[in-house]
Amino acid sequence: MKKSVRYILNGLTLPVFVVDPNRKISFINKSAKLRYNEAYTGQLFSELITSKKCLDALESVLGGEPNATANIVLQEVVPTSFRVSLSRLDADSKPLPSCVLSFEDVSHIQEAEQMRHDFVANVSHELRSPLTALSGFVETLQGAAANDEIARKRFLEMMSNEADRMARLIGDLLSLSKLQASERVAPIDRIDLFKILTSVSSSLSGLATRNNIELNLNLSHSMPLVIGDSDELTQVFQNLIENAIKYSGTGSTVTVSFKPPKEGKSHLFISVEDSGEGIGPAQIPRLTERFYRVDKGRSRAQGGTGLGLAIVKHILIRHRGWLKISSQLGKGSIFAVYLPISKT
Ligand SMILES: Nc1ncnc2c1ncn2[C@@H]1O[C@H](COP(=O)(O)OP(=O)(O)OP(=O)(O)O)[C@@H](O)[C@H]1O
Ligand SMILES: [Mg+2]
Repeated sequence: MKKSVRYILNGLTLPVFVVDPNRKISFINKSAKLRYNEAYTGQLFSELITSKKCLDALESVLGGEPNATANIVLQEVVPTSFRVSLSRLDADSKPLPSCVLSFEDVSHIQEAEQMRHDFVANVSHELRSPLTALSGFVETLQGAAANDEIARKRFLEMMSNEADRMARLIGDLLSLSKLQASERVAPIDRIDLFKILTSVSSSLSGLATRNNIELNLNLSHSMPLVIGDSDELTQVFQNLIENAIKYSGTGSTVTVSFKPPKEGKSHLFISVEDSGEGIGPAQIPRLTERFYRVDKGRSRAQGGTGLGLAIVKHILIRHRGWLKISSQLGKGSIFAVYLPISKT
């Protein structure tokens, strides 16, 4: 192979092999050497890659086909999906063609596709359950309960709850997609968190009383301003404080605190702490996934969509902040929000 061609192939980021008519590797580019450090020239290609799909495609190209492709999964450190593109290489001096194979790692595309698929399946499921309930109530009201005044009132109330849940779900989905679209643009307003936290807490004080929860604020009037978006930060603390009230169990204490940041720190943090039942270590990393709930039935019964913490995560990404969750089963949880301090 000409030196200039070697240069070009070595400059590619895709792993590339050339396999000769005897099925032996005659060239390995730099990227392939890094990825398959046990590969050497003169080795049978089938000793290195045993995937039948890839070897069949190689046979077809060495047999005369100009091109072929094969989608294969190789057991590397983790199973990795590759799209292998094969093309015939006719050299003037040789009677039989060789084959050039390039390996493109497509695992991230497949993962994204799988996530999209799971998301659509989850949304359909979440929308179908209130819809099924609504249709059931309509049927009962048209039939058995048509003239039952008490049942009608009760069913209409339940229908209204289900319709509210659907509306909330659609609202949350729209919020998420808007946030993702605007993630690259950080908000620029200077925000007084004291105002936001006192207003969110007072709007949730009724819920706390009904759940027999003591809601405490441990804040300071002289908190530094943060850079953010007032509505989005309200949404963050609304969800975190509401979660702490809803899921920590009756009789627990919920405390929203601010600690002055150390000199020179660029972020401050606000924690929402509860003395409830806590969350298991295996579940903590999954809490910000869309639709993930520790106890599905309990969340649904409280009217939750399972999107709250996913929205919190995306709002904080947009704010160039982050969320840290720590929890101990039987003791309680701390959700700490880190936000950039305004320098002006
Ligand atoms: N403080 C907490 N203590 C125990 N479990 C919690 C706490 N906060 C959240 N969780 C768990 O995390 C799950 C996900 O919370 P998230 O806010 O994303 O959804 P949700 O509250 O179920 O629905 P929504 O926020 O739409 O009302 C909850 O269903 C609950 O199981
Ligand atoms: Mg929530």
